[in-house]
Amino acid sequence: MKKKPYLSIALAAGLAVSSFGAPAIYAKPAETPKQVQPFNVFDNKILNKINVENIYNNIEYLSRTPRVAGTEAEHNAIQYVKQQFESYGYETELQEFTFYGYTAPHTVELTVDGYSGEIKPKSFTYGMDGTVSGELVYAGLGQAGDFEGIDVTGKIALIQRGAISFADKVLNAAANGAAGVIIFNNAPGDLNGTFGSPNDAYVPAVAISQEVGQALVDQLNNGETLTGSINIEGADAGMRTSYNVIATKAPTNKNKAKDGIVALGAHHDSVPGAPGANDDASGTAMTLELARVMKDLPTNMEMRFITFGAEELGLIGSRYYVSQLSEEEKDSFVGYFNMDMVGSRDAGDLVINTPDGNENIVSQTAQASSARLNGESTPIQPGGSSDHVSFFEGGIASGSFIHRPLEPWYHTPEDTIDKISKEKLQDVAEIVGTAVYDIVRPENQGPKVNRGKEQKVPHLYYEEEIK
Ligand code: BES
Ligand code: ZN
Repeated sequence: MKKKPYLSIALAAGLAVSSFGAPAIYAKPAETPKQVQPFNVFDNKILNKINVENIYNNIEYLSRTPRVAGTEAEHNAIQYVKQQFESYGYETELQEFTFYGYTAPHTVELTVDGYSGEIKPKSFTYGMDGTVSGELVYAGLGQAGDFEGIDVTGKIALIQRGAISFADKVLNAAANGAAGVIIFNNAPGDLNGTFGSPNDAYVPAVAISQEVGQALVDQLNNGETLTGSINIEGADAGMRTSYNVIATKAPTNKNKAKDGIVALGAHHDSVPGAPGANDDASGTAMTLELARVMKDLPTNMEMRFITFGAEELGLIGSRYYVSQLSEEEKDSFVGYFNMDMVGSRDAGDLVINTPDGNENIVSQTAQASSARLNGESTPIQPGGSSDHVSFFEGGIASGSFIHRPLEPWYHTPEDTIDKISKEKLQDVAEIVGTAVYDIVRPENQGPKVNRGKEQKVPHLYYEEEIK
């Protein structure tokens, strides 16, 4: 990462126009007469207030535990974020929404009498609890025809992965009277699978490796009788509740109340087992700090500081948020700045992901601020996979700030506070904070809101080259 350079006067002069064409005023040159610090005075209103220790300490607090959407831990994080916003003086709303969720079982056991090796069974997402035992019967790929000529009634069907879905294999076995199912991988290694959706017709099922599955098939082919026992406890599917936390700052210039809305935010939930220090306690803590920094600054637009729930389950909270906006709100929404994974010492450089790879007011103002602060503008890269997509789909300009390539700890139990870089946090907070302030400051007459068309993102799950 770059230290802030002193730019030459020529370059600074080139930058001496704010992103909306209004003239910007720069700080006086420092001691060296030929060099000038390229910040404008408005940037300094943000830069002087950011305290990276606040961000770091809030990440440390939030990342003491995983914060899976709909769990008590997420609800505790939500209360904490709300209290922090309120301690800065914000009116804060909890926006409730519900979704269908699944909790993985705490106990997944498989024993096979007559097999001596280690088995390490896994459960399937949306699989059900149960304790069953019975003779093992090999049922090939578990397609309907595979059950002709074999009797699995009250027994455990041993099925290979492939050709049809895991769910259909289990449903076919259940339809033929099987008490349980073991599915083994068709490639080396463990099998972690999902049934895709819940179904009361499933029977208890476990996944095992190709190596163990093939060994069991070989023993059966040798004429041995094997008896298996499956025990699954703690799986729980059903409706869950989560919340978006929304702190609002009214425009200080009351005459300008209808000029626009600018939002910045992050998701506060994490994946199971991951403390999510970087993903995304970092963005949540940065949202809090920028809210604190901007609390008493004069602005001509409404600002919304938002942390979203259930992002990791498919952008559920942010989609709900956008779905609840009125036409009038959408018409006046200028842009949404998303911060997701903004502090890992082990990730690459900062990029701005926009869902279609095109620039918009979020990317433009952040490119301008990064050029002013660091002498180099943060590159744009097409990318989805976070809450900015929900805004884009609602026709609202958005961008997500993230360091790429990702750190190796992404979505693992190792995503912890010790991997967080204060330098990276400081850099992103400065770039985003000054970009946002450039839009909302009262000196700025403001851009015309450019409401986009509502559209689906074509490539949510694949990546392209950095522009
Ligand atoms: N923090 C990530 C965002 C991310 C990950 C962006 C990888 C770019 C690359 C986010 O929380 C996440 O994990 N998103 C999901 C997708 C989402 C729609 C459930 C992902 O990328 O698997
Ligand atoms: Zn994330």
